[in-house]
Amino acid sequence: MTAWSKELDAAVRAARQAAEIAIRMQPDVVAETKADNSPVTAADRECERVIAGLLTEAFPGYGVLGEEGAQAESRNGRRWIIDPIDGTRDYMRGNPLWANLIALEADGEVVAGVVNLPMLGRLYSASRGGGAYCNDVRVLASSKVRIEESVLCFNRLDELSAFRAPERVLDWMRRFWSIRGLGGAADAMLVASGQAELWIEPSACSWDFAPLKVILEEAGARYLNFNGGSSIYAGNCIACAPGLEPEVRRMLIAP
Ligand code: IPD
Ligand code: CA
Ligand code: CA
Repeated sequence: MTAWSKELDAAVRAARQAAEIAIRMQPDVVAETKADNSPVTAADRECERVIAGLLTEAFPGYGVLGEEGAQAESRNGRRWIIDPIDGTRDYMRGNPLWANLIALEADGEVVAGVVNLPMLGRLYSASRGGGAYCNDVRVLASSKVRIEESVLCFNRLDELSAFRAPERVLDWMRRFWSIRGLGGAADAMLVASGQAELWIEPSACSWDFAPLKVILEEAGARYLNFNGGSSIYAGNCIACAPGLEPEVRRMLIAP
């Protein structure tokens, strides 16, 4: 039990319900294009409506920030952050990598989070001080310290120019044991569960990052930004096993 167990349980239930809705609606998927050129479907909107409804009914006074527009002012410093379907492109194509993401922020800190990957049969969750879990089994970050033994996950290769010296970073990446890219949340969860050592996401939003942060940190992994901070609002993220932090700071983080 932690101070946030009730909220976490409700978020898990809401994420599972959203997954059922998304799966039910998938055969009829039709997408529109949003202003940022990304796709959105009726399932994204319906999942967000249901998640936000369940959580605001159970926790009056809590605010809401949802990717598809759900918004409510917080009256107590607590706010739900929702990405109803993370990986809409995967969802549309029938790739099994999409997720339902829900996090709770309290006084500016993420205190609970759920990453539900229903097509992989994996639901990751954590609340501050309570450890990180995959399907109720505790997960821990890897103890590896050498990149030659490590798995690197990279999202958005098209954003490689976000690094000051992309050529140098590419040379460094060649030394890793293997390189994978599963689209985002799934990669970060590999780092949380010790199956990969580093995940780099050069460009995404707070709702893409919020639950990942608490799950990674509760698993003992590091959550960093390109500027050395640790915010879900910085637009980028580097998640790594603790033993890789010095190397990651030297290569990827501006002094
Ligand atoms: C996208 C995914 C993807 C990331 C994009 C996001 P969406 O989310 O998280 O991994 O690279 O920046 O927009 O739009 O499918 O929820
Ligand atoms: Ca997303
Ligand atoms: Ca989304």
